[in-house]
Amino acid sequence: MPVLVSGGARGMGAAIAREVIEQGGQVVLADVLEKEGQDLADSLGSAASFIHLDVTQETSWERAVSHAQDRFGQLGGLVNNAGILLEGRVETTTPEQWQRTIAVNQLGVFLGMKAAVKAMRSAGGGSIVNISSTAGMTGFTDCFAYVASKWAVRGMTKAAALELAQYGIRVNSVHPGDTMTDMIAGAVASSGAVTTHDQIPLGRYALPSDISKLVLFLLSAESSYISGAEHVIDGAVTAGTPAH
Ligand SMILES: NC(=O)c1ccc[n+]([C@@H]2O[C@H](COP(=O)([O-])OP(=O)(O)OC[C@H]3O[C@@H](n4cnc5c(N)ncnc54)[C@H](O)[C@@H]3O)[C@@H](O)[C@H]2O)c1
Repeated sequence: MPVLVSGGARGMGAAIAREVIEQGGQVVLADVLEKEGQDLADSLGSAASFIHLDVTQETSWERAVSHAQDRFGQLGGLVNNAGILLEGRVETTTPEQWQRTIAVNQLGVFLGMKAAVKAMRSAGGGSIVNISSTAGMTGFTDCFAYVASKWAVRGMTKAAALELAQYGIRVNSVHPGDTMTDMIAGAVASSGAVTTHDQIPLGRYALPSDISKLVLFLLSAESSYISGAEHVIDGAVTAGTPAH
């Protein structure tokens, strides 16, 4: 099943793309980072392809979906993975930071689903996985706009799952905790919006490969009765407060 991964040039998106290839699928990596994305696609071989995508632009999404159909015949999976983390509190976040965060993390997910639906309907169904965050399950400090955008992803996932079930299209959200990528390296460097190891019951940050395995399950027919659900993968951080 051909899968389109937004933000596929690095981090979690790159791990998801690698996993698709390892499991014998075809993948379109779509990102604003052209060199990284093209290099990764080249290294993954002929079952991978790169296209420039700015998730905030509807025409850019339409081009990316057409590219997947032209290259691999159809589109069966979409991973709305592209995202940004701009740190700021309720008192310090500027309207510009807010608008940019909502444009990439929320509008981008909406436009991705909108562009993919037509292609998936003509393919007879599909699976959409929206990457939210534990910041879409609970509140966190120092990333106010990010939290808002990730709660929105969770809500849009449920609304879309209800609307698209009739076409055989499933929609799920994935909620990772802190995961070892450039995004979290940036937050660690600024000692901002991250948990520390002693706050994680399983004692470590997630690896991108932890997340990609869950995403591949949700893309596959193995999960054919799972839709409209949120899937937390966070080493038990949001499970509750430990007694000691
Ligand atoms: N790393 C974590 O701890 C963590 C935790 C929970 C959720 N997430 C989410 O996982 C997803 C992937 O994050 P990551 O950690 O791999 O971060 P990352 O910064 O390494 O990768 C994000 C990718 O999105 C791309 N991107 C950004 N803006 C874009 C745009 N307008 N159009 C197209 N692509 C764009 C970037 O170029 C980059 O390749 C994000 O949605 C993020 O919010 C990350």
